[in-house]
Amino acid sequence: MLKESWSLVEEHQDKVAGYFYARMFLSHPDLRELFPVQMDVQRTRLLSAIVTAVQTLEDPERFDDYLRALGRDHRKFHVAPEHYEVVGGSLIEAMRAHAGEQWCIEYDQAWADAYAMIAARMLAGANADQNPPYWYGEVVQHERRSQDIAVFTVLPMQPLEYRAGQYLSLEATAYQPRLWRTYSPANAPRRDNTLEFHVRALGAGWVSSVLVRRLRVGDMIKMAAPMGSMTLDRRSTRDAVFVAGGTGLAPIKSLLEELTRYNRTRWVHVFFGARTREDLYDLAELNRLAARYPWLSVVTACSDDPTFAGERGDISEVVARYGPWNEHDFFVSGSGAMVRATLRKLAELQVPSVRIKYDSFNG
Ligand SMILES: Cc1cc2nc3c(=O)[nH]c(=O)nc-3n(C[C@H](O)[C@H](O)[C@H](O)COP(=O)(O)OP(=O)(O)OC[C@H]3O[C@@H](n4cnc5c(N)ncnc54)[C@H](O)[C@@H]3O)c2cc1C
Ligand code: HEM
Repeated sequence: MLKESWSLVEEHQDKVAGYFYARMFLSHPDLRELFPVQMDVQRTRLLSAIVTAVQTLEDPERFDDYLRALGRDHRKFHVAPEHYEVVGGSLIEAMRAHAGEQWCIEYDQAWADAYAMIAARMLAGANADQNPPYWYGEVVQHERRSQDIAVFTVLPMQPLEYRAGQYLSLEATAYQPRLWRTYSPANAPRRDNTLEFHVRALGAGWVSSVLVRRLRVGDMIKMAAPMGSMTLDRRSTRDAVFVAGGTGLAPIKSLLEELTRYNRTRWVHVFFGARTREDLYDLAELNRLAARYPWLSVVTACSDDPTFAGERGDISEVVARYGPWNEHDFFVSGSGAMVRATLRKLAELQVPSVRIKYDSFNG
């Protein structure tokens, strides 16, 4: 029933979104402050997030962990328990207003029930959380490594616990308030608590361009609780392969750094690919690690640079030139296209999917 009713309004998604926000902000003007200044950029973001959640999380029990984490994470937007009802009500009204005559009372009920189940789990997650909704951190170092890439270090004001390979969302408070994007620390947890980030500015990207081009030493940013499960299993004795595209290197470096603290027995192969030589922004550091740790080998590749002396081609192709890989643990990180291509290649090479962990930057 949820899908059936959504199909009545799907074509007018933009209008539904406009109505949804207008209704919500008219009845509760205080809610406007929770959202970014430029609503046009993300006009349909919350609406489509909720619609997707309601339609795909048909069995909230199964998605309990995800929903609890989502609820915990919503604290960074200053979402309070009483907001849930307002949002749910506005969503259903917006759909009803655009569906025409075919909308029926059963649809109202189906959406209200599904939304309530999801909201209850998110709220339970938010209530049980002992952490602050976000951490302030000061930028203590900022370095441009290429036209589009920066590496910077942040010192959180309170300790922020995370595991190597996880990611967290970040707000460039002074430049783009209330816009949060996820980035992966590129270091394993340190005694001084600092976190290093590797960011590539995407063409029209709101947050990444500010982090690369405007962020300065001394700026404060906000960070929210870490998430993600691309972490090392210390009990695994298998050799490991890390495949990184561009700034997808960040979580891979973090995992590598963790391995340097205890590994003696596992061979580790890093494949680092980018379009051009300039985009291999952290090669010197990778080579330094490879020279220091005999168990580590690094292969670099450029897909779009005929002058590059190393491997050429997409990194997924390059991985396939080496191997065999059927006894290895895999960690893959980079753009959506790069991750998809690598997973396809690994499937062809008969690497069991349970041995592959990955993070895709854009779905
Ligand atoms: C789990 C996870 C971890 C991540 N870790 C990192 C990380 O460590 N480092 C990092 O740099 N990023 C990382 N990302 C990506 C990051 O979260 C943002 O998506 C990215 O920085 C873009 O955000 P933005 O606000 O600049 O772009 P947005 O304002 O969200 O918009 C992106 C817009 O830019 C345009 N665009 C999209 N892709 C491209 C492209 N390839 N070239 C040109 N234009 C494009 C499109 O118009 C798109 O609408 C990670 C993402 C995820 C999901
Ligand atoms: C069933 C309930 C809800 C679900 C499933 C849900 C889901 C989500 C998801 C997945 C995102 C992330 C979107 C992204 O990063 O791209 C998001 C963003 C957001 N949510 Fe929710 N949400 C719910 C309820 C609420 C409520 C009650 C509020 C209160 C106003 C709220 C406020 C926000 C805000 C402010 C954002 C950021 C949007 C932006 O950047 O424009 N959400 N939501």
